[in-house]
Formats: sequence, C-alpha cells, structure tokens
Amino acid sequence: MAIKRSSQDNSSSSSKTGKKRRKSSKPAMSEEESLLIATAGIDEIENNNEDSLRPQSLAEYIGQKSLKEVLHIAIQAAKGRKEALDHLLLYGPPGLGKTTMSLILAQEMGASCKITAAPALERPRDITGILINLKPGDILFIDEIHRLNRMTEELLYPAMEDSRLDITIGKGQTARTRSIPLSPFTLVGATTKVGSLTSPLRDRFGLIQRLQFYEIDELTLIIQRTADLLKITVTQDGAEEIARRARGTPRIANRLLRRVRDYAQVKEMATIDQELAATALDLYNVDVMGLDWTDRLVLSAIIEQFRGGPVGLEAVAAATGEDSKTIEEVYEPYLLQIGFLNRTHRGRIATEAAYKHLGFL
Ligand code: ADE
Repeated sequence: MAIKRSSQDNSSSSSKTGKKRRKSSKPAMSEEESLLIATAGIDEIENNNEDSLRPQSLAEYIGQKSLKEVLHIAIQAAKGRKEALDHLLLYGPPGLGKTTMSLILAQEMGASCKITAAPALERPRDITGILINLKPGDILFIDEIHRLNRMTEELLYPAMEDSRLDITIGKGQTARTRSIPLSPFTLVGATTKVGSLTSPLRDRFGLIQRLQFYEIDELTLIIQRTADLLKITVTQDGAEEIARRARGTPRIANRLLRRVRDYAQVKEMATIDQELAATALDLYNVDVMGLDWTDRLVLSAIIEQFRGGPVGLEAVAAATGEDSKTIEEVYEPYLLQIGFLNRTHRGRIATEAAYKHLGFL
C-alpha cells in the first residue's frame, strides 16, 4: 500500500497530578507543562513515530469492535463486486484512529491512500489535482472535512456520485462546463464535528460511523503492543496504570508510554511497573483520571467563576484564555464522557464528581 501524505494529522494528549488540589483559582501546573500532553496541534516528531506504530490490518487493530465489523462487511462486499468501497464518514474526538482506519482500508483493498485535510484544499485546483491522479479503488482521506469551502465541496459532489469532475472554463456568458471522468475512488472524511457538515455532503456518504473512546483493557493491549514495538518492558499493571490515565485515546496512551519510558531510562529502571508509571505520570501532572492542566483550568473556572454553571462556551473560553473550538473539540468530549461536565441548553455545568475530583467537596 502506498501512503501519500499532503498534510499532517493532528495530535492530542493530556497531563495531570494524582493528588487532590486544595481550593484555589488556578491549577498548580504551568501551561508549558500542560502542552507536553494536551494540544490539538501538530507534533511532527511524534507523528512520524506514530506512523510506524499504526496497526496495518483490521485484525491487528484493537478496539472499535462494531466499526470493524461494519467495515469488514463493506470490504468483503466491495471486493466481491470488484468495486471501490463506499464513501465513509468517520467522526468522533481526535486521536481515536480515523487516519489509521483509513490507511487500513486502503491496505485491505489493495489500494493507495492519499491523505489531506480541508484547510489544505483552499483553491479548486488543490482538489482537482488530487482527484485526477487517483487510481481505481484508491482512498482519499480528508481530515477536518467539515472545514471544506463551498467550491471544493461542490466539486466533490459529482466526483463522489458519478466519478466525474465538472469544471467551469471561462467566465460570464462564455463560461462552459467540462466533465472529466475520474477513476472510481473512496472518499473517507474525518471530522470531530459531524453536525457542522452540510447535509448534501453528509448524504453522499454511504457509511457514517462514530469512533468511541477506548476501554481501559483495550488501551492496555495497545500500550503492550506499542511497548513491544519500541522494545520497552512494561508489566501488566504498569500498562494498566498508563491506560487509566490516557483519556480513552490511543494516541495519548502511546505518548504517555514514551514519557514514562524517558523517566525509566533516566532513573535507570529496566521495567515499567505500576509504581514507576504512577510516579512518572504524577511528575508530568497527568492525574489518576488523565486530566491535565487545561481540563482542570476549565472545570475550576466553571466552578469558581460561574458557581458551577450553567455557563456558555464563549464565557468559559474567555475565563480560561483557551480557544473555544479547542475546548469544545479536544477537552469537553472526555469531560462529558467521564461525567465531570454536563451540557444543557443553558450551558455547561460542572458535576458533583468534578467538584470532588478537584477537591472542592
Ligand atoms: N495503536 C494505536 N491505535 C491502535 C489500535 N486501535 N490498535 C492497535 N494499535 C494501535
């Protein structure tokens, strides 16, 4: 399988202390420390490493059981008919394996995967250049697909429906439309915000699938697999300790494993056991629930400045100095998942569990 990459995918991760904090307005951790783990930004070095750690087949892929079943059927059916796979929309929080799944689909179909992201498709010629060069059955992965501009999106409609590119030549009264045949291909769109897709685009996907947060036992297996690949010795309870703090996210689990490996190396410890993992992750301020500085900042702002809510997203963003989109797409999904935050029509509310975890109760 060939991987052609025209843009970087995003990385995210997280950090925190296991200790309960006394009531205070700011978490005791610098923003720099927090950025060690929790960003939605690009981390080139770790992304390159991440590529070599990706599972190569559905069989090797741990977790996302129902998604794998759905895709297994779709692959077998498409192969049986000697057709391209149906267009697939993958949505869910960052770091759960959307890019990895797209690469696996290409591998399973014996095709190539071209990776790009909506912000890289600014001009019509960006997408037309890619589409014209696709071979039969190839996969085109577009990350952040909810951010496509209208012109690019409209070029995709006939491409998705009829493997056809409609381009307009000239302007005004002399303008003419030309249709160019394309190879049948599969568009895999990835988004953290499925509600932001226009319905004409969403309706052109034959399969729409959500990626779920991973269970602790799944993350433990992923950590053990990564440890094997990186030749790190980690005990079962060491892997579990890292898994518990990984926010249900393989990308974070693998990143925490690397940080714990650094710690073990410097402390000249050959094996990562539970105690070592816990000590290292406490040092990096990744708490027992996997919360990091920004998670705690968001929760403590809601509790202290807005009496626990309800409070609007923009007010939380202003109070924390954090970008509202990052709060909504990177931090909130996990806080909602673990029941520390509720989202109501009147705004965000910190739950009793959040009060207790932060030492306010
Ligand atoms: N590495 C990262 N995510 C993985 C997954 N879901 N299965 C196996 N290895 C992984």
